[in-house]
Amino acid sequence: MLRVINSRQSVRAWTEKKVAVSIIRRILEAGMNAPSAGNEQAWQFVVVTEKELLERIAAVHPGGDYVGKAPCAILVCGDTRLEEYKGMWVEDCSAAIENMLLAMHALKLGGVWTGIYPQADRIKSFTSLLKLPKSVVPLALVPFGYPAEPLKKRPSRYKKTRVHFNSW
Ligand SMILES: Cc1cc2nc3c(=O)[nH]c(=O)nc-3n(C[C@H](O)[C@H](O)[C@H](O)COP(=O)(O)O)c2cc1C
Repeated sequence: MLRVINSRQSVRAWTEKKVAVSIIRRILEAGMNAPSAGNEQAWQFVVVTEKELLERIAAVHPGGDYVGKAPCAILVCGDTRLEEYKGMWVEDCSAAIENMLLAMHALKLGGVWTGIYPQADRIKSFTSLLKLPKSVVPLALVPFGYPAEPLKKRPSRYKKTRVHFNSW
């Protein structure tokens, strides 16, 4: 578990190999097993596998050209109808995203968290492109697939200056 957590990296280039539906399901399951406020699970997931749609997303998503080359992407959204603790869908969805990124890495896939919320223009583009209902707010898009290149080793980011025991 710690090896997976400490070696995960964002991946933005993939082979053309498709991701099997059974694998996508395992990734979504990892996402939905994340903690959430009072176990509210205020999330929804839109899985995008159609090439043409991925290319249309790439055209509107700032800095996201590589999305058009991904075999798959998951749009993670908060659902305010499911919310029990106001505004905490953001944390719920963030925990789900990290779980999914770790599951991808454990399954030898790779993905990247691309931010949408709280940028109004990005929220608007995704809402209209993917026909999201009013109560559903897109938080992030995670394009993923099989990494085109092996991951490069990077040093740990542990910084003891960021740790404060008992008081500041
Ligand atoms: C909230 C959030 C928003 C991000 N948005 C983007 C993005 O729009 N485009 C992108 O390429 N990467 C994005 N990233 C990925 C970060 O750039 C990446 O996680 C960071 O550089 C650390 O690299 P690593 O994931 O390889 O450890 C985002 C990450 C987070 C947590």
